[in-house]
Amino acid sequence: MALHIKHLKTSGTIMRSSPFLISRLLRAIDFSRATTVVQLGVGTGCITKALLRRMRPDARLISLELNTAFIEENRDLTDPRLSLVQGCAGDLPAIARDLGLGELDYIVSSLPLAIMDDELVERILVASDDLLADSGMFLQYQYSLSQRSNLERRFRDVRVGFTLVNIPPAFVYECTPGMARAAAR
Ligand SMILES: C[S@@+](CC[C@H](N)C(=O)[O-])C[C@H]1O[C@@H](n2cnc3c(N)ncnc32)[C@H](O)[C@@H]1O
Repeated sequence: MALHIKHLKTSGTIMRSSPFLISRLLRAIDFSRATTVVQLGVGTGCITKALLRRMRPDARLISLELNTAFIEENRDLTDPRLSLVQGCAGDLPAIARDLGLGELDYIVSSLPLAIMDDELVERILVASDDLLADSGMFLQYQYSLSQRSNLERRFRDVRVGFTLVNIPPAFVYECTPGMARAAAR
């Protein structure tokens, strides 16, 4: 279970997400209509696999991971719907453009926002709000509420859930996009 010790600085945890946390995180996704899903922070790949198990046969999953070791660990995921991309979540707009992605249905993030650089977090949240369809959602788990106000500033609506059945227990944020578009109207 202790998986991330070598990469603690960027992974932000030493434990794999529990099946309960994964189910809670993905609960808001309407898999019957999701055709373009982006995942930020692949880690051990357990959320990637859970997404692929639920996604439509014609859907696309773009999974971004910064760390070479985690990219290598997930090389055996050869599902044709999956694009495993090594890169920084802060470069999501350029990556989405290069891959020819249109509006995104969901972004599922395991990024350790609380220990990341503020400017990078800001860039990721603004880009996510901008790239998601109005009907889409940004889903994020965290081990504290420290990022709640940050998320509330960047998204039109934020709902917070909680699961005890993870080590450590985790908060799940369900964020509705459209903040920038609403401000522009
Ligand atoms: C908390 S771990 C994910 C754990 C995963 N949910 C699991 O159960 O295995 C966070 C992941 O985000 C990745 N990461 C951190 N900063 C990143 C960035 N700027 N862009 C992309 N991935 C990043 C880390 O390398 C790590 O794999």
